[in-house]
Amino acid sequence: MGPGMQLRDPVEKKARRHPIITLDGPAGSGKSTTAREVARRLGFRHLDSGALYRALTFALLSAGIPEGEWPGLSAEILDRFSIRLRPVEGRFQVLLGDRVLEEELRSPEVTAGVSPLSALPAVRAWLLEAQRRAGEEGGLVADGRDMGTVVFPHAEVKVFLIADLRERARRRFLERENRNPSPEELVVEAGRIQERDARDSGRQLAPLKKADGALEVDTSDLSFEAQVSIIVNFVRNLDWGRHLP
Ligand code: DC
Repeated sequence: MGPGMQLRDPVEKKARRHPIITLDGPAGSGKSTTAREVARRLGFRHLDSGALYRALTFALLSAGIPEGEWPGLSAEILDRFSIRLRPVEGRFQVLLGDRVLEEELRSPEVTAGVSPLSALPAVRAWLLEAQRRAGEEGGLVADGRDMGTVVFPHAEVKVFLIADLRERARRRFLERENRNPSPEELVVEAGRIQERDARDSGRQLAPLKKADGALEVDTSDLSFEAQVSIIVNFVRNLDWGRHLP
C-alpha cells in the first residue's frame, strides 16, 4: 500500500474493507435491477433479499401448507425447509435443498403470498441470519424493504428508491408481460401494488421506511442509466469509494 493510501483510523479501515450498500424501496421502484447493476460496476456482490421471502413462500406453497397456517410457523418448522444462499459470480443464488430457484419465485401465486408471509415475526427472525451472513465479507449491495433499517443498520451507504405509483405499475407489468399495459391493465396493476405497499409499510415489524440518513432517489423520470449513475457516483465520491476499481 502506498503512503497516499494510508488508512487514517480503524473505523475507516473497516469501512473500506467491508462496505455495505443498502437499497430499500417499494415494489416496482427499480431496486433489484438497479442494485444488480450498481454491484456489477463497483465489483460488489448483489443480494436480492426479496428472493429469500419468495423462496420460503414457494416452499410453503409447494409443501401444501395453506396460508391460514403460516402464522403458526416456528423456527423449528422453517428449519425443515432447507433454504440457503449460495454465492456465485456477482450475486447469491437461492436454493431450496439442491434446487436453484429462479423463475418460480416470480409466479403470481408466490407474489400474492409473499407479502403476508413477510409480515410474520418468526419468518423475519429466521431469515435475518442468512442475510447478515451474506454481508459478513462486505462488498455487498443488498436490496429489500428493511436492509438499511434492520438488517444492515451500520451500512456505509443507504439508498431509498421511490417512484410514483403509475410508473411502478407500468414497470412491473412490462417486466412480467413484456409489453406496456393498456390503461385498464395499468389501473389493475396499480391497485395490486398499492395493496402490497400498504401491507409492507403498515406492518408492525420492519415496515418499509426510509432509513435515517438514506439518500433518496426518485426514479419516476430517470432512465435506468441515470439512476444507477447517481448511486455509483455517490459511492465513488466517498473517501473509501475513490479506491474502488
Ligand atoms: O422485492 P420483492 O417484490 O421481491 O419482495 C417480495 C416481498 O417480500 C414484498 O412484498 C415485501 C417482502 N420483503 C420484505 O418484507 N423485506 C425484504 N427485505 C424484502 C422483501
